[in-house]
Amino acid sequence: MKITVVGAGAVGATVADNIARRELCHELVLLDIKEGLAEGKSADMNQTAALLGFDTKITGSTNDYSKTAGSDIVVITSGIPRKPGMTREELIGTNASIVKGVTDNILKNSPDAIIVVISNPMDTMTYLTLKTSGLPKNKIIGMGGILDSSRFKYYLSQALKCSPADLHAVVVGGHGDTTMIPLTRLATLNGTPVSNLLSTEELNKVAADTMVGGATLTKLIGTSAWYAPGASACALVESIVRDEKKVFPCCVALDGEYGQKDICLGVPVVLGKNGWEKIIDYRLDSIEQDLFNKSAEAVRSMNSVL
Ligand code: LAC
Repeated sequence: MKITVVGAGAVGATVADNIARRELCHELVLLDIKEGLAEGKSADMNQTAALLGFDTKITGSTNDYSKTAGSDIVVITSGIPRKPGMTREELIGTNASIVKGVTDNILKNSPDAIIVVISNPMDTMTYLTLKTSGLPKNKIIGMGGILDSSRFKYYLSQALKCSPADLHAVVVGGHGDTTMIPLTRLATLNGTPVSNLLSTEELNKVAADTMVGGATLTKLIGTSAWYAPGASACALVESIVRDEKKVFPCCVALDGEYGQKDICLGVPVVLGKNGWEKIIDYRLDSIEQDLFNKSAEAVRSMNSVL
């Protein structure tokens, strides 16, 4: 198993660090356009192997895609991150050409790779990758819903004073401050609906905090977050590598599912060795479906900018 992470910024390096620690592959390539950055961060990570006890070999590369040849999975984190006050959508102009260029280079060297897109605006970058790569739709997966769901569980656990690991809670729709949909109705604490345990007001606050979860961190840190994005991408990759068939919300091509077509949007999917293998129908109620349709409209208008 060979995995490439493109972009050695905070998110890319954290994805690589998580993948190495969990030994998801033998060969891991970290690539960046900035001279020496990927080589430096790779060496730093390799120097943790003796302490952490992993056997993954990490290779850094300054824009030399031949080193990525034969990758089974490629994670794209390239592009500029958002600054405080910016939306993910404002990044489209810069990031679209970067992501397109990266995808072309990746495919020349790894024509059969499964591609995981993290670059923002993620839903539109995933659609762009789907349209320009010519790969089967099951091989293109946008990472956003896992991260948003993890943030949803965090805020729920704070309100419930419980372990996040005891919660099932899913965010679908777009990966944008106003397009994501925390599915509060379906969230449970060990099978008990959270609506039995928290007031509507408390639940609304949890949902609102979740939706601006990324923006809140960007305001504090001055740039986009990386620990939760890194761990989320790693969980996604792990389910593919180990063929776990875990169900995670991911941004995938819809062809009528959830009432939408010709768009990539966050829905629950089964992740296994073939990429995303199946979309699970959570049977949204009419309010949720309405929100999902509005989310699709917003993402579709962003896609039209491409
Ligand atoms: C975030 C970025 C990765 O939500 O989109 O933190």
